[in-house]
Amino acid sequence: VTRTPFIAGNWKMNLDHLQAIAFVQKLAWALADAKHDFADAEVAVFPPFTDLRSVQTLVAADDLPIAYGAQDVSQHDSGAYTGEVSGAFLAKLDCRYVIIGHSERRTLHGETDAVVNAKVQAAHRHGIVPVLCVGETADDLEQHGASAVPVAQLRAALDGVDASKGLVVAYEPVWAIGSGQAATPEQAQQVCAALRAVLAEVAGDDVAASTRVLYGGSVKAANIASFLREVDVDGALVGGASLDIDEFSSIVRFKK
Ligand code: G3H
Repeated sequence: VTRTPFIAGNWKMNLDHLQAIAFVQKLAWALADAKHDFADAEVAVFPPFTDLRSVQTLVAADDLPIAYGAQDVSQHDSGAYTGEVSGAFLAKLDCRYVIIGHSERRTLHGETDAVVNAKVQAAHRHGIVPVLCVGETADDLEQHGASAVPVAQLRAALDGVDASKGLVVAYEPVWAIGSGQAATPEQAQQVCAALRAVLAEVAGDDVAASTRVLYGGSVKAANIASFLREVDVDGALVGGASLDIDEFSSIVRFKK
């Protein structure tokens, strides 16, 4: 099985409306320019909710080779949930993906494994592929090693879920996010392999072989290739470096 590399830019709460539009246009030019030496990755951006309609319009108007998705989704489909955004609405914006269980949602917004599981199911109800984030804190790493917490989070998130409906897993060690201190490629490989083993166990070998497992945490143009060389690392979830068009363009043009 060959897995198409996946390079995802999580903008978090950055880039206002006009900046978002300009960024997507520049990214489209960069991808068009790079056609001949382009590594054939799927490229996706995750703007704030308020920019999804504009991104949809830009991408559809020119059939741009840029996927996009939201940074979160409600576990509910509709109703009295002030401030929440339903997967049904995201589907109408043609979101292919949605990030679920990012460590910032887990720590700053109290998202438990049960909530993450409900959100994965909500995405699937609307035909949207979850980009499911898991990862250990520095304390977890010290106490339990690197794999234990991400493996437990993945199991919990997939409880009762049919992963063959579409899934991307992102391994993001919390200590590596925004710290400039990326995991080593070997560390990323070790945990991504452990996560793929869980996929095989809960969803079968075919799903495990076809599901993309990403690394995230201080990825930049200078280190992307080192991660993509690892057999179980199929791409990257990029935060800070996805906000700079030159840096992100270099990342999507990685050469192994
Ligand atoms: O979702 C992206 C990650 O949190 C990584 O962020 O690339 O700024 O470390 P970073």
